[in-house]
Amino acid sequence: MSKLVVEGGNRLEGSIRIPGAKNTVLPILAATIISGKESVIEDCPEIKDVELTVEILKNLGCKIKREGRTLTVDSSDISDYTIKEELMDKMRSSIILTGAILARMKKAKTTYPGGCELGLRPIDLHIKAFKELNISVVEEGGYIMFDGENAHSGDIHLAFPSVGATENIMLVATTIKGTTKIINAAKEPEISDLADFLNKMGCRVLGAGTSVITIEGADSFSNVNHTLIPDRIVAATVMAAAAVTGSTVEINNVNTEHIGAVISAFREMGVLVFKTMDNSVVVSAAGRIKPLNLLRTSPYPGFPTDAQSIITSVLSVADGTSIVIENIFEQRFKHTEELIKMGADVTVDGRCAVIKGVDRLKGAKVSARDLRSGAALVVAGLCADGFTEIDNLYHIDRGYENTLLDLREIGAKITKV
Ligand code: EPU
Repeated sequence: MSKLVVEGGNRLEGSIRIPGAKNTVLPILAATIISGKESVIEDCPEIKDVELTVEILKNLGCKIKREGRTLTVDSSDISDYTIKEELMDKMRSSIILTGAILARMKKAKTTYPGGCELGLRPIDLHIKAFKELNISVVEEGGYIMFDGENAHSGDIHLAFPSVGATENIMLVATTIKGTTKIINAAKEPEISDLADFLNKMGCRVLGAGTSVITIEGADSFSNVNHTLIPDRIVAATVMAAAAVTGSTVEINNVNTEHIGAVISAFREMGVLVFKTMDNSVVVSAAGRIKPLNLLRTSPYPGFPTDAQSIITSVLSVADGTSIVIENIFEQRFKHTEELIKMGADVTVDGRCAVIKGVDRLKGAKVSARDLRSGAALVVAGLCADGFTEIDNLYHIDRGYENTLLDLREIGAKITKV
């Protein structure tokens, strides 16, 4: 099994470019199914979750070509509506494929989704919304069968602004006659990117980025060429790497609006973050990190849950005590058990972590427990004394290109063994 070995204590320097976002490419890949045309996705990250989604699309009958970061999907010959169990198991986001498959084929067949183990991750909001659109959902022999032959438009009130449920409703509504309205929709930038893609494809989606989104069904679509928004969580990860190593790093291809809450937290921690030109920021840290009295994760534009583990690593070497409350996923503090092996002083009680900053972390053998916890351990390793060995790298590969080895471009000493 391969491991990352991170040598701590080295300053970082230089500039690094952020690729297109994982959490936008997945729903957009799903959307390519709908058109029956050719979709070209630019700046597509080379990560495991994309590979898996491509595998599912190929199984459904799509023809796919990748040339570097350009991915072309031709969905003219889709012939199947089943997502195979072994592929569904590997990725929770595969659930949003059902909305797109239904939009195109009027039927879909899946099992319950897998993916990171972030506690109970139900799909009740997706199912409830489908039913409200008169899509029948039946469990049979371990599979969920969706039938959208008699689907009709309607108003969907989401009990929580779920990102995945918002995307799924947007996707399925693209071919339902009339106007479907989502109330209490998720406002994440990835939702707006999906809406942009759908609109280029010939759909009429309004209000993305606000809590009310309307989708008017269409019956003909066109070829699309779309460049993905940059990955805001990869940007946050690089910011954290600069912060813990007391470094100055330029980050290119970043949308500062998308990471407003993250920038604000870093500034509160005493890290300088300034925009140099369009789509670039410089992050500069010196001396001890200041603690955060209280950091709460919340839906966008609040502090993103996906950056919580990464920032916990930074706070573990702050000059004082910080409190972090995780409001989105109940089991997203697994990395703290590993940070403790590195000398961090963290106490977790349910959704709350109390982090007493220590002077130094020390290198240790640790395990990535989910995607972002893996990244958090790399960040911790960069400032720890000695060497940190991280295993279970498949988690990191789901959402970071080249197992985060690209941090070597800015001087990080990381090897894969
Ligand atoms: N939820 C329900 N019922 C549902 C759907 C969600 O109770 O039917 C709950 C979830 O259990 C969770 C909360 O609502 O507690 C938020 O879930 P949401 O549906 O918003 O998240 P998601 O669509 O499953 C996406 C990202 C996650 C990111 C969250 C929140 C993708 C592929 N995944 O997940 O990304 O954390 O939104 O922003 O877009 C990651 O990148 O590391 C990651 C986990």
